[in-house]
Amino acid sequence: MNITSYFSHGLFKGKTIFITGGGSGINLGIAKNFAALGASIAICGRTQEKLDNAAVELRALGAKVCTAVADVREMAALEAAMAKTKAELGPIDVLVCGAAGNFLVPAEHLSANGFRTVIDIDLMGSFNASRAAFSQLQETRGSIIFISAGQAYMPYAYQVHVAAAKAGIDMMMKNLALEWGKYGIRCNSIAPGPIEGTEGMKRLSSPDALAQLQAGIPLGRLGTVDEIGQVAVFLASPLASYVSGSVLVADGGQNLAGSALFNIGAEKMMKTAATGKK
Ligand code: HXC
Repeated sequence: MNITSYFSHGLFKGKTIFITGGGSGINLGIAKNFAALGASIAICGRTQEKLDNAAVELRALGAKVCTAVADVREMAALEAAMAKTKAELGPIDVLVCGAAGNFLVPAEHLSANGFRTVIDIDLMGSFNASRAAFSQLQETRGSIIFISAGQAYMPYAYQVHVAAAKAGIDMMMKNLALEWGKYGIRCNSIAPGPIEGTEGMKRLSSPDALAQLQAGIPLGRLGTVDEIGQVAVFLASPLASYVSGSVLVADGGQNLAGSALFNIGAEKMMKTAATGKK
């Protein structure tokens, strides 16, 4: 992590960052970058053990940490998590809506409940968190960062549920930016590309498919969780004080080449899963 080489160590001192799904992956990477810059961090997720492990890493960076078990599909749990955060760390300055669910599935095999589950976690979960945090964000004139994806603006095979959810998130983000600007609340999305070592990439790509996908990325490599953390820090910082309603794509240029390489890899993964043969 080299964020402190570029931003002042105390940039987020006295600020509270609440991150849904903050126990792992990109969301934990975001949490660590804020922690390294002096922020207090609240993370929620479904498993206490994951949150506890993440809290150890965040405290090692000097952060005060609040953890709360809360499924973003449950408004009451989110409200309780945010009340606990306010009591322990102070009102929320930055909300990161990162909790997400994903799996590869052909649309014709996806059940209505499977589709709804991803909409509930990604889209409803992002609304629930924003709505639950509103009064605290109004108090701090804070900002919201949504975690979107390339699926929001380009079709990817076997991702119909995720596409609908992420496109919904980006449009919701723009509506909230429009309505809540008068409270000083900025809203933006980050659309990460393939990020190494994440649960998302494990679910969407085999090692073979990943190598192929990587070859098609203009920057020639996968991204890192720190690189997404750095984008989040920028968007939440005073450097982005006039940025609201934007989708910041951080994917090494992957979208410029389309989704064909991903689709070929996904097809192979589905065949392997069905036949057991590589
Ligand atoms: C088809 C599936 C399925 C699969 C679940 N379902 N997995 N359908 N193929 N592989 C269906 C189930 O059959 C069920 O429908 C419905 O979805 C709900 O499943 P549950 O297991 O009961 O849901 P739940 O326990 O709430 O778990 C949610 C989940 C799970 C999304 C299904 O995978 C999860 O908890 N994921 C969280 C972690 C995660 O996915 N991380 C990656 C995020 S990456 P029926 O009809 O049978 O009842 C990401 C990045 C995007 O989002 C972009 C990257 C570039």
